[in-house]
Amino acid sequence: MTPAARNIRHIGALLPLRHNAGHEAMCYRLARDGSLGLSGDMEKIYARYTTLVATLPASVPFVGPEVQERARHAPFEARLGANENIFGPAPRAVAAMQAAAHEIWMYADSESYDLRSALAAQIGCEMRNIVVGEGIDGLLGYLVRLLVEAGDAVVTSDGAYPTFNYHVAGFGGTLHKVPYAGDAEDLPALIDKAAQVGAKLIYFANPDNPMGSYTRGVDIIRALDALPEGCLLILDEAYAEFAPADALPDIAIEDPRVIRMRTFSKAYGMAGARIGYAFGATDMIRSFDKVRNHFGINRAAQAGALAALGDQGWLTQTCEKVSQARADISRIATENALTALPSATNFVAVDCGADGDFARRVLAGLVARNIFVRMPFAAPQDRCIRVSCGRPEDLAAFARALPEALAEARR
Ligand SMILES: Cc1ncc(COP(=O)(O)O)c(C=O)c1O
Repeated sequence: MTPAARNIRHIGALLPLRHNAGHEAMCYRLARDGSLGLSGDMEKIYARYTTLVATLPASVPFVGPEVQERARHAPFEARLGANENIFGPAPRAVAAMQAAAHEIWMYADSESYDLRSALAAQIGCEMRNIVVGEGIDGLLGYLVRLLVEAGDAVVTSDGAYPTFNYHVAGFGGTLHKVPYAGDAEDLPALIDKAAQVGAKLIYFANPDNPMGSYTRGVDIIRALDALPEGCLLILDEAYAEFAPADALPDIAIEDPRVIRMRTFSKAYGMAGARIGYAFGATDMIRSFDKVRNHFGINRAAQAGALAALGDQGWLTQTCEKVSQARADISRIATENALTALPSATNFVAVDCGADGDFARRVLAGLVARNIFVRMPFAAPQDRCIRVSCGRPEDLAAFARALPEALAEARR
């Protein structure tokens, strides 16, 4: 085998090799049997990926419901899998987005000035402590880009919200995973691991997705005492508005150890608008300006988020509906001899009472009956399915499908 072929075997991906005095790149493909051949009919390629990208799996962290619908050739009857807020945005937010549609020819304010100023008033900090981004997912990407380079250690929980891991892989970081303690993320253990491996970042969602559990704010503050110097804690608070008040820690805004992230996707019902924010120490927040997409925020989303923030009455009503839906999901679980776990979010993890294979069969049975739900990735949490809060009609469809899905899974 030539050195180049060995190199390709190592990389395990398409690799361009320079030919013709560097004018063009030929693409060689490593076949399953280890042989090396030209890809296609002497196919030429012009995109020469970085070594890192060439090594990444062609992975999709989430297969969206629309993708599933196309594959199934059938629409879902109930969309209960992505922890969206089916109760929707405040009418005032809808009106603001409709009005903004006429102005959509303009780029949005690159500083999100009005929104940041409203958020600063709500949080009780300065505007310089807040950065607005394309949802928490987008902000996680920027943060990882700011801090993680090839070989840097980061820590997360095994089975936690996976978008962070995807960004870390994209920047060549090394991910260290810590098991859940019971069904909750274990912050002291995450911090211990960070100290062991010299991690730059810890990802911690509170409340947690996929289990819906939460850690008390006072316990977060206590755990922070052991945070190694030079390690930043990302506190992902996507579900903060649904959580009990004692879930939210009282951390000084200029505390350099923590950056917090929240979103308009969940309680504010605006997941499709892609808008969220991070808040923390001035220096940390200012650094986002070095890498963020300055015109990445949709103008209508900015207007909608501002209006949504101004309608706290709607938010309260939403939280009441979510709390009712959580109770309904628990009741449906109990009626089917399953156990619903306590939830501080807008979804409920339902323990199917056996292993991951069984829960996967239940999930497949639900999907086959047009109910979109998801489940945790890692054992033993994968004994559960995860059901987002829905309207009474969505949960009625779930209640109809569940007994059949369970019976099928048991056969
Ligand atoms: C823990 C957690 N963080 C972040 C997100 C995504 O938030 P956004 O829509 O703001 O990107 C989700 C969505 O499911 C989530 O569960």
